Amino acid sequence: MEGEQSVGRRRMLAAGVGLLAGLPAAVAAIDPEEGVTAPEDLMKEHGVLNRCLLIYEEGLARLRDGGALWPGVFAHTARLIRSFVEDYHERNEERYLFPAFRRAGKLVDLVETLEAQHQAGRRLTQQILALAAPEAFRDAGRRDQLATACRAFVRMYRPHEAREDTVLFPALRTILTARQVLALGERMEADEQKVLGHEGFERSLAEVESIEKALGIFDLAQFTP
Ligand SMILES: [Fe+2]
Ligand SMILES: [Fe+2]
Repeated sequence: MEGEQSVGRRRMLAAGVGLLAGLPAAVAAIDPEEGVTAPEDLMKEHGVLNRCLLIYEEGLARLRDGGALWPGVFAHTARLIRSFVEDYHERNEERYLFPAFRRAGKLVDLVETLEAQHQAGRRLTQQILALAAPEAFRDAGRRDQLATACRAFVRMYRPHEAREDTVLFPALRTILTARQVLALGERMEADEQKVLGHEGFERSLAEVESIEKALGIFDLAQFTP
């Protein structure tokens, strides 16, 4: 048993040797069951945001084509975006990642733009919530405003999260040590409990799935061309 464990540990060390060279074994040998690293966590959260964008796009298509649609599609999604993306995911980026890049003097212009976009996103969500209220949704002019706000939201967040995934998150390891990245992951995990409650990620994901199912866009195979 002991022998097997140390073989596994050596294998993990060998796999991570390029990235973690020079670090003590206790830091390098991450138990995969024990939790994901900060960038992996943030990217997983982007997956939830992506699924919300897909719901907005489906809602927009139905607004345009007159398909079956009810205001809760927008309202429910916007509330989820507010609690999961804006009050949790983006707060973590603003609290832990952006200041670290500013302190290091790295990607500062990018960080400025990302932060301004968080603010713009919150304004749009505010509008979407107001315009998706049932009495507003009955009015054709305000449905047009709702569509404009949703389109702007999707248009901004696709490149926003893609830039974070491809540029900002990978650069985290150039300004923090592996040990600091691990500590950051733990701090964010604790915040998840505090802000979202027990199994916050899982519950948010289940909510997204329930909206997808109600819209008939849950089955992934339907998207295969
Ligand atoms: Fe962001
Ligand atoms: Fe993000």
